[in-house]
Parts: sequence; C-alpha cells; structure tokens
Amino acid sequence: MYNIREVQKDIWWVGASDRRLQLFENAYATPDGMSYNNYLILDDKTCLMDGIDDAVSRQFFDNLTKALDGRELDYMVVQHMEPDHCSCIPELLLRYPKLKIVGSQKAIQMIDQFYHIKADAVVVKEKDTLTLGEHTLTFFTAAMVHWPEVIVSFDASTGTLFSADAFGAFGAMSGNIFADEVDWEHDWKDEARRYYANIVGKYGVQTNALLKKLESLDVKMILPLHAHLWRKNLDTIIDLYKCWATYTPEKKSVAVFYGSVYGHTGNAADILSMKLAELGVRDVKVFDVSKTEVSYLVSAAFEYRTLVFASATYNAEIFDNMHTFLTDLKNHNLSGRNVGIIENGSWALSAKKKMTELLGTMKNMNLLEPMISITSSVDENTLAGLGDLAKALAETVK
Ligand code: FEO
Repeated sequence: MYNIREVQKDIWWVGASDRRLQLFENAYATPDGMSYNNYLILDDKTCLMDGIDDAVSRQFFDNLTKALDGRELDYMVVQHMEPDHCSCIPELLLRYPKLKIVGSQKAIQMIDQFYHIKADAVVVKEKDTLTLGEHTLTFFTAAMVHWPEVIVSFDASTGTLFSADAFGAFGAMSGNIFADEVDWEHDWKDEARRYYANIVGKYGVQTNALLKKLESLDVKMILPLHAHLWRKNLDTIIDLYKCWATYTPEKKSVAVFYGSVYGHTGNAADILSMKLAELGVRDVKVFDVSKTEVSYLVSAAFEYRTLVFASATYNAEIFDNMHTFLTDLKNHNLSGRNVGIIENGSWALSAKKKMTELLGTMKNMNLLEPMISITSSVDENTLAGLGDLAKALAETVK
C-alpha cells in the first residue's frame, strides 16, 4: 500500500525506509536502517527527482503510482547515479516508456554502464533549466558530493533545493520526515555526521564549493536523498556542513582510540583519560577500535579537536584495526588535528614509528610530545609519561 506525503506545493515525498539493512554500501553499519527519499513534482509535466534502492522499490512503485494518479511520468531527474537511488531505472523505463531522463553527461553515461540502457536523455550542465509548468528547476553541478556526476536542483518558485546526498544521514525514518518533527540535534546529528564523514568526508573542498553556490540562492526547503527534510532552521544543518567540509572540529575535547590485544594498551588509554579529567578536560571519549565499527571512529575523529592513537605492535606493524582506522582517516582527508601517540610492544616496538609515518602523510597534523612507549604494560615510568602527555593534550583544548 502507498505511503506518501505532500511536502511542498505540488511536491510529494514518495520514498521509503529499509530497516533490515545491516551495512550501507556493504561497508557502514546501519543498526537503525536507512531511508531513501525521492520526490514527485506534479505540474503541467510530471517529474520524479531520483529513484530508489532495489530493497524498497515495491513501496516506491506503490507510492509513485498513487501520486501520479494515472498520469504519465514525463521526466526523471537523476541527480546521483549511485544504485541506492537508481536501481529502479530499468523498471521505470518499462513502466513509463516515454520517460525522459535528465542528468549530467556522466550520469547518462553511467546509466549505460550499470544497466546497458540507452535512455532517452536530456543532458544538463551548470545553471541549465527544466520548466515543468509553474515550477522551473535550475541545475547546479556538485561533482564528488558524492560521485562525479552529481547535480543538485533548485526550484525558485518554492525555494526548494533538491540536494542529492548532501545533508543526509544514516537511519530509517518513522513518519516524521521533517527535521523539525524530531529532536534532530539530540537524536540525529551524530548519524548525520557519521554519514557525512564516511560518505562525503573525503571531498571537503567539493562540498565547500557546493555550499558557496547555495549562498546565492534563496533556499527555504532542503530535500535530501537520505533522512530528514528541512523546512525550518536550515542553518542548523548548513552550519554543520560548513564545519565538516572544512575539517573543523566541533568538540574542544580529546578522543582516545586504542587498539589493545590483552588490555594493557587499553589500560594506558583509561589512565590517560582519567588524567585528562583531573586536568579539567570535559567530554573525553575513549574508543576500543576492535569493538567500535570504524565508521563511528571516523565520525568521532571529525568531531574532536584532539585525538590520541594508542596501539599495540602487531606483526611489527600497527595493530590491525587501528591500522584500518588510521588508513580510513587518511583516505577521508582528515586534517588539522592535535595528535597524541602511545605504542605498546613486548619486543621490537614499531607501532609508534608506523603511526607517525602514516599521520605524516596527512595535512596539518600536530604530533604532540611526549610520545609514549610501553613495554608490555604501564609501569611507573610510563605512568609519569602519560601524565606529561595529558598535560600537552589538555593545552590543546583550553
Ligand atoms: Fe545515497 Fe551516494 O548515494
């Protein structure tokens, strides 16, 4: 049965949530599922703004059929050709053979690459328009937010921005599809950050370029492809994006990440966090990188100003999960953090050297002294060293 909602004059939400999904992109934990938004504009012409993932396509087709109410589907704007929004294209073309697909040159090319279909296409470039009747869409390129073919679309008659992946979040929605219908800052901000950091975080420069373009538009509503729609307090999400896109930390505190085989490196992390607390540092957060899924760690690294990496030496390398985490941070272009380093090893310690090398390939990482080397477990010497490191860390978050 259909489940749709009018969100703006002539604009209907026809999306769906998938609460069974365990891993978005088969990579990122989604314990609360995932939502997929798309929108139907009913004007002189009908226009679908993006498609949906296969997993929820039956719901989507029920929604679309109801919202169209017997009308033909004239256009589909493909803002983003990732299959979580596009796997329904082959069936859409079967159901609506006169459908014209609107997208960037790259998007149209990708339709052929994914589905071996030569679609009846309208290729659009920066500031090209599509008039549907009262509503005219103006397209803006947004390459790498999150793929190279991405465009966003602005309907000036209503001030509605269709923002593609930008401003999304992980998590299924529960009827309250507008951000002002939930306690967004309390319940959703963390998942929006985790989504941004992991999905788009590598492309801060490109995200910033998109934000600059938006400044010239009178945006009154933001309709993203995932999670909540924004019709009030748009600055809440826009300001966060300005922060994340420039790798500016939100929290003036310390996140301590440890990779520990038998608990002794974890012990050092706990001792350090207690010393930080005694120095007056609030909101310190300790993570076991073997326990917490890496997308949450990446998100925390985007959030905190100062980071500590404490790793056991393992196969003469950084402990595996810590290595994965640090590599992920490098791949996501994280920059501009204060960093404390702790290594542990019972013989041939090498984690510090390896971590220092890896962090040295990232921009503006301020490696603090002293770096702590633990031989098997914390002793009185390293305990004193942890005290000195805590003082250096505390200075960075004053
Ligand atoms: Fe929601 Fe980049 O796909």
